[in-house]
Amino acid sequence: MKTGIIFGSTTGTCEDLAGKIAAEFGVDSADVHNVTDLNADLVAQYDLLILGSSTWGCGDLQDDWFDGLETLKGMDLSGKKVALFSCGDSASYSDTFCNAMGTLYDDLQGTGATFVGTGVSTDGYTFDDSSAVKDGKFVGLALDEVNEDFKTEERIKAWKAMVL
Ligand SMILES: Cc1cc2nc3c(=O)[nH]c(=O)nc-3n(C[C@H](O)[C@H](O)[C@H](O)COP(=O)(O)O)c2cc1C
Repeated sequence: MKTGIIFGSTTGTCEDLAGKIAAEFGVDSADVHNVTDLNADLVAQYDLLILGSSTWGCGDLQDDWFDGLETLKGMDLSGKKVALFSCGDSASYSDTFCNAMGTLYDDLQGTGATFVGTGVSTDGYTFDDSSAVKDGKFVGLALDEVNEDFKTEERIKAWKAMVL
């Protein structure tokens, strides 16, 4: 199964995390892409797409994702697997923690993609609300490099087991 990782990152945090996830999953760095490079041909190369966005504003997608998400929404992703991750700040933005991941999940529902790596426990996180939580679980991997970077490695490892 060919895996591609696509990230949107403003100050480099989500980009760094995409690199860490690639290393853990054994994905070549050539298959880690900035969302600014997303197009239909790129997406077509992969069976498993790992999509990541940091969260900005008040629970918004990272800016570079707006065009990329429109492209993905217009595609038929039947037969493809999609796994989501996001980074945010659970202390300063406790009401919108990692909402970008909730947006990606909601907006890609009509594409036919099969989501994997969902149902991630919220145990060990401290926040008030997140649109990335459905039925009490995160729809993907939520990371917080601002307050809990020491938990990141363990979270990525646990999530890899769920995705694969
Ligand atoms: C102005 C501002 C708004 C933010 N809004 C949110 C938010 O709504 N939810 C959240 O979880 N994190 C929020 N964050 C935290 C960022 O998502 C976090 O710093 C992230 O690591 C940035 O990743 P990037 O460098 O890859 O863009 C915000 C940060 C700033 C400075």
